[in-house]
Amino acid sequence: MEVEKVKGFPVTRMRRLRGSEIIRSMVRETEINVHDLIAPLFVCEGKGAREEIAAMPDVFRYSVGNLVKKTRELKNLGIPAVILFGIPSRKDSRGSEACNPKGVIPQAIREIKEKLPEIVVIADVCLCEYMDHGHCGIVEGNKILNDPTLELLSKAAVAYAKAGADIVAPSDMMDGRVATIRRALDDSGFQDVLILSYAAKYASGFYGPFREAARSAPVFGDRRSYQMDSANAREAMREIALDIEEGADIVMIKPALPYLDVIRAARERFDVPLAAYQVSGEYAMLVAAEKNGWLDGERCIMETLLSIKRAGTDLILTYFAERAAKILGK
Ligand code: PBG
Repeated sequence: MEVEKVKGFPVTRMRRLRGSEIIRSMVRETEINVHDLIAPLFVCEGKGAREEIAAMPDVFRYSVGNLVKKTRELKNLGIPAVILFGIPSRKDSRGSEACNPKGVIPQAIREIKEKLPEIVVIADVCLCEYMDHGHCGIVEGNKILNDPTLELLSKAAVAYAKAGADIVAPSDMMDGRVATIRRALDDSGFQDVLILSYAAKYASGFYGPFREAARSAPVFGDRRSYQMDSANAREAMREIALDIEEGADIVMIKPALPYLDVIRAARERFDVPLAAYQVSGEYAMLVAAEKNGWLDGERCIMETLLSIKRAGTDLILTYFAERAAKILGK
């Protein structure tokens, strides 16, 4: 008897694969694991500080003691790493506090590493939080100078490595900074400190709440002469290729959700671990909608994280790290 050749319905029924949660879980292609998550934390000077950031409900600026407490909670939830952003009380035109070995970030790193040696500490390396003008490099007239900035960035990176940082993460978007930082770290005996570069960092409106949190909005102009144009995806491939060539161990795309195509293209092209940063504005949007009762927050948070992972990233920096870890642990 001849078997009738049939294509599609009614023989093929996609819904069979969705019939029950157990079947769905068997054919699920992507999963978020708690070890994919990196929690960003803001560190300020002083004692006992825990200041909420207006545009980022449930995100705080912590002084060192409270920071260690929060880090312990994150670690106990299984989160493997934190990334630290410093908010110094003194800012100047050379971002001096960024390189101060007694500055807020080196202090924080030392404390965390002493009390919680197993958690991976990532130090963001940038000058904008430390500059009185809020730009990520040295300013001359209305120009942001590239090469003179590199020296300050490598000094900061070495200071953080000395304090015990496992990973340094340059987020300034100056050309050549990965190579310069790699050389400076190696020359100081820190061959084993990793570089996570913000390789494709776009000039984005979604950084608004962060700039409030870090008090780092530029006082003149904007960051478009160093951060990338949102319209460009091919250029991101060049940025990433260069950073890998210069010695980046992990490369990052930032923001995440509006740039999923860039994550996907990078995944297809490069074999290094990829990270994506779900930034402050992405956080604020979801939390605002949730607080208004317009969205099911928990569900939408996990959906965005899943989409970022599905696009091809290995690691996700997100202000939802703690909440997501709790949801995953349920
Ligand atoms: C510093 C830096 C910024 C962010 C991370 N590192 C701000 C900026 O470039 O203005 C943004 C992170 C966020 O919005 O969550 N260069």
